[in-house]
Amino acid sequence: MSVAASIQARTSSSSYDINRTLSQSEIGALIGLTTQAPSAFNMQNWKFVAVHSPEAKARLLPLAYGQTKVVEAAVTFIVCGTLDQHLTMPAALAPTRDAGIIDQATYDGWVGAVNDMYAANPVMQRDEAVRSASLAAMTLMLAAQEQGLVSCPMIGFDPAGVAAAFELAATDVPVMLVTVGYTGPSNWPKKPRKPVADVLAFV
Ligand SMILES: Cc1cc2nc3c(=O)[nH]c(=O)nc-3n(C[C@H](O)[C@H](O)[C@H](O)COP(=O)(O)O)c2cc1C
Repeated sequence: MSVAASIQARTSSSSYDINRTLSQSEIGALIGLTTQAPSAFNMQNWKFVAVHSPEAKARLLPLAYGQTKVVEAAVTFIVCGTLDQHLTMPAALAPTRDAGIIDQATYDGWVGAVNDMYAANPVMQRDEAVRSASLAAMTLMLAAQEQGLVSCPMIGFDPAGVAAAFELAATDVPVMLVTVGYTGPSNWPKKPRKPVADVLAFV
């Protein structure tokens, strides 16, 4: 399936085949594609918690305000963006330098820039957490679609409750839930979009 076909085919799924699961290896492969998403300075400030055991799904259900797709889908990802980018950046960027893609001076410049931009700026840190997690979530949904799976992004959850129940670090911001699985029998068709002319400005 082409990227364009995946984009056109994707819908937010509310109906899943409850009899079909995904293995940990299949889930890992999906996240391997997900982490090909871009992030500022390649800081990769994201984490993913794959809620896939029956016990973990039951734990998530009330925190997702009873949205049953979190138990019916094969897996629900808690897509987190992470804070303290200035502390995680040196290790995150080192493989790019070690692969010879950037030199030491560029590495030092980027690490310094991240320190200047984020260390004393909690709003910027949170914005970057939401940006990175959102790009990752979209990449995850398109990767799932291409593999014959369906998905749904969800903001209908209690972030503090999810953080406590799944023991997220204080620096992990649960930005979105994304359910992924095989389709059930009763999903809505693609919803229409605003005309391009209503949302596109040329300058
Ligand atoms: C940030 C975000 C949060 C959403 N939260 C929920 C949710 O909690 N529950 C749900 O059923 N759908 C949720 N949706 C799905 C939207 O309702 C859906 O994307 C929108 O109606 C467009 O439909 P489509 O994705 O099928 O094209 C969410 C979508 C986004 C982008």
